[in-house]
Amino acid sequence: MSEENCNYKRILVTSALPYANGPIHIGHIAGVYVPSDIYVRFQRLKHRDVIHICGSDEHGVAITMKARKEGVTPQDIIDKYHALNKKAFEDFGISFDIYSRTSSEIHTETSQEIFKTLYDKGVFVEKTTKQYYDEEAKQFLADRYITGTCPHCGNTGAYGDQCEKCGTSLDPTDLINPKSAISGSELVLKETKHWYMPLEKYQEFLEKWILQDHKNWKVNVYGQCKSWLDQGLQPRAVSRDLDWGIPVPVEGADGKVLYVWFDAPIGYISFTKQLTPDWEKYWKSPDSKLVHFIGKDNIVFHCIVFPSILKAEGSYILPDNVPANEFLNLENDKISTSRNWAVWLHEYNEDFPGKQDVLRYVLTANAPETKDNDFTWKDFQQRNNSELVAVLGNFVNRTLLLTEKYFKNVVPQPNSFTDSDKEALAEIAKIKDDVEKSLENYRFREALNFAMGLGRLGNKYITEQEPWKVFKTDPERVKTVLYVNLQITAAISTVLEPFIPFSMKKLRGFLGLSEILDWDNIDGRELLKPGSTLNKSSLLFEPITDEVVEAQIEKLNRTKIENMKNNFQPAPQKPLISFDDFQKCDIRTATILEAEKVAKTTKLLKLTVDTGIDKRTLVSGIAEHYDPKEIVGRKILMIVNLEPRKIKGIESKGMILCAEGGDKSLHFLNPDAELENGCQIG
Ligand code: 2FM
Ligand code: ZN
Repeated sequence: MSEENCNYKRILVTSALPYANGPIHIGHIAGVYVPSDIYVRFQRLKHRDVIHICGSDEHGVAITMKARKEGVTPQDIIDKYHALNKKAFEDFGISFDIYSRTSSEIHTETSQEIFKTLYDKGVFVEKTTKQYYDEEAKQFLADRYITGTCPHCGNTGAYGDQCEKCGTSLDPTDLINPKSAISGSELVLKETKHWYMPLEKYQEFLEKWILQDHKNWKVNVYGQCKSWLDQGLQPRAVSRDLDWGIPVPVEGADGKVLYVWFDAPIGYISFTKQLTPDWEKYWKSPDSKLVHFIGKDNIVFHCIVFPSILKAEGSYILPDNVPANEFLNLENDKISTSRNWAVWLHEYNEDFPGKQDVLRYVLTANAPETKDNDFTWKDFQQRNNSELVAVLGNFVNRTLLLTEKYFKNVVPQPNSFTDSDKEALAEIAKIKDDVEKSLENYRFREALNFAMGLGRLGNKYITEQEPWKVFKTDPERVKTVLYVNLQITAAISTVLEPFIPFSMKKLRGFLGLSEILDWDNIDGRELLKPGSTLNKSSLLFEPITDEVVEAQIEKLNRTKIENMKNNFQPAPQKPLISFDDFQKCDIRTATILEAEKVAKTTKLLKLTVDTGIDKRTLVSGIAEHYDPKEIVGRKILMIVNLEPRKIKGIESKGMILCAEGGDKSLHFLNPDAELENGCQIG
């Protein structure tokens, strides 16, 4: 094993359990599942004993809220999204060893067992506090079910745990005028008992374990932990008053369930139990290495809360690393499930069949490892066309086509090597070593960039050697050149496997390799034997056209418009006016006779209209909403006695009446077409 892993006999990799209350999107896979999959695939190529654990997080208020909103049961919700997400992951090539669910029986048993152990050890502190109770719905309300006015920014729709307008974390008692989101009724404070994990008692242990012993953790992870520890840890309730979840397994806990963040991480353990009878070997042996892949919003739970629980239990190992990522934005806007602002994984799989690797590649090349990053469809297209197609695909396809053309698809026997040949061959092992080092240290972007170095190396070498020219005069030399190219190609088929596994499988098919090469054999030795036969090849990657990405951008634009419409709030009424004031406005029916764009503007149209009184010119800011050709002949309403104004040098006499929609679109008001021009409104 390399230095990183030399102290370990096996590796236990977990990926954050997604809530089964919505589909998986690109933010999830960029932050958690693509990196964990790359890591695990790499460890498998190193023949390490590694298992990858994941599944659905099926408890918590978010699930009950979704069910309530849709008028179905929480069970309906989790069944739907568990199946959807499991399939989406599979189709996308995320290679979990198990994808289970926290609604499984073994998970309930395991969670209750751990709670009971801590309870019996006297770890928990029991506290009775006053919490908001909805007397109409006859239940205590979770923080998310309480709405009110944010004391910081005045937002009237703030939640009991957070104001989404100003981002402040809140306690329900901070809210001004709190109300039940279920019944809309006023709330009363009522006493309730809960069990608390006294995190402050683990402060000293955590300070040493994280701040001293794990200085190697990613800066964002270490920094967040330090900030929690610097603030001083507080007790955290591990039970809730809710009718959905795992019952608290002690006397006097009727109607109380385990807090979702108590049971969810235990899912990693219970799923390992489901996977293998040897589960304890992974969880309880100091020669096992535990790695949690998560997004940044999960750091406190995986680095502070769950380790404290495991430490209190006493028989489990703690994570060796928690390589949490930052967030991915989409087209410069925060990904949001409620606003439908996302690229959903199951939809990508449908819209881009056979192109899973393109997204895997783009999300790794642009991974939010150290800061939030942005995904755009244009960048997706550009990286596919100029990196996968133009560099990697181009090199591989040139190599394979020339081997077919000159040597009937048989790997040629090389002649003597020049210095350039030797340098190119030596570079292969060096690149592989660089990739390995980056992967061991959870630097996936860097690893991919190194791995793509094989494509760049191949392209540079083949371009310099020009085998297509040399063949005419020196076919023996071309044997050596293509031999070198084929060695690089064989290395590509393994080194890039963790990143783009579908394409590398295809490539191994072209190369006649039935198995992935041994990672450790990429050390300068011959990877493809002269005399072995290749298969017919085809394009490894195909360009993505403008139409394809424009269709995706259009889909997002439709979402944006939908959201604006849904969020439409009529402007408040203007101050009252007298009837006389109103009478002063001379509003008439009129017909548009001519329409043309005002030069050098994007918004303005110059219109000639028949007002019934006269024919006149006016300038209207509707060019982005109406095509001039299509509005000639339209009957409209206009104010005819507005003072004339010069706009872009044109005298505008009057104004067309338009309504502004929630998406900021403008719409003419339509009088009956048969009305004469000049009819007065009033
Ligand atoms: O943030 C989330 O989506 C949580 N469902 C993650 C849980 S991870 C683990 F602890 F189970
Ligand atoms: Zn606020």
